Amino acid sequence: MNKINAVITGVQGYLPDYILTNEELSTMMDTSDEWIMTRIGIKTRHILKGEGKGTSDMAAEAVKGLLEKTNTKPEEVDLLICATVTPDMQFPATANIIADKAGIRNAFNFDINAACSGFLYSVVTGSKYIESGQYKKVIVVGADKMSSIVDYTDRSVAPIFGDSAGAIMLEPTTEDYGIMDAILQSDGVGRVHLHQKAGGSVKPASHETVDAREHFIYQEGQAVFKWAVSKMADVSVEMMKKHDIAPSDLAWLVPHQANMRIIEATAKRMGIEKEQVMINIERYGNTTGGTLPLCLWDYESQLKKGDKLILAAFGGGFTWGAVYVKWGYNPK
Ligand code: UT7
Repeated sequence: MNKINAVITGVQGYLPDYILTNEELSTMMDTSDEWIMTRIGIKTRHILKGEGKGTSDMAAEAVKGLLEKTNTKPEEVDLLICATVTPDMQFPATANIIADKAGIRNAFNFDINAACSGFLYSVVTGSKYIESGQYKKVIVVGADKMSSIVDYTDRSVAPIFGDSAGAIMLEPTTEDYGIMDAILQSDGVGRVHLHQKAGGSVKPASHETVDAREHFIYQEGQAVFKWAVSKMADVSVEMMKKHDIAPSDLAWLVPHQANMRIIEATAKRMGIEKEQVMINIERYGNTTGGTLPLCLWDYESQLKKGDKLILAAFGGGFTWGAVYVKWGYNPK
């Protein structure tokens, strides 16, 4: 029997309407367009506004669009995985809420928390259910309302993040396309540099934790930067070597969009040109679970069947990884 591969058969993104510019940020804190563009490379980010709106609302829009685009009935979906660090609530899993809002009733659903690598971890997890032959349609959605955990008085964090959702469909094929290989790694020692101090079981929410602003992202930027640059490039280069992919053979690097300088350093280590790199950080910022599917969505019309892609990410945990994908369809 031929080996079953999991292939991406559709991609859809969602961005909330409100656009937060560097100019507006400059009125909220001591920063400037020039600093943010030079040090990070972000001009605008989308922010989800509205009472009672959460991560699942953005994700459900992306999933509904994906169902339509791939001609899939909600009842055909076997599994929905959501990568997020900003769940609607501690429990139940946001994946359950997304499925409900998208009318998906027969699937089982769960969340994966691997911060900015969450989408990669989820794609690999989802692909295993397809490769085993057990399931035919798996949706992986990366979604984060980062604005819900950003301290807009902290200039070292606030400019970086935005809100978004992006979803892909995974289906089986016996052709030589799809999720070909993955290198996923993590190291918990990195947690000291990037985390949310309160709200978990170690330090439940209290008046004190709110007063101390401990429900926001805590980040030691330089330490995260150093790890990100070396780890994301290490696994991407390792993947190229493992599959004999010369720089000129690679159609696209699809990197997590955290900092333009991290993206450039990774591309340089891989020996590829800027034209081979998907970049949309300037418009959306770092949307954590959403960055990679948003890149695929933005560049979908330029992707051709057989294109070799490396998806790479680094994030809180620390977590990081590279996934080798052979793209499965031509622009429609
Ligand atoms: O997705 C994974 C999660 N995160 C990341 O990948 C983030 C990785 N880290 C980074 O991207 C960068 O470290 C940052 C963008 C967070 C910070 O950039 P940096 O070049 O490492 O700046 P820095 O922290 O070394 O700060 C340099 C200076 C400091 O001033 P002094 O002490 O030299 O006077 C900061 O106070 O820049 C100052 N600064 C700012 N100035 C204007 C920090 N943030 C700002 C700001 N505007 N927004």
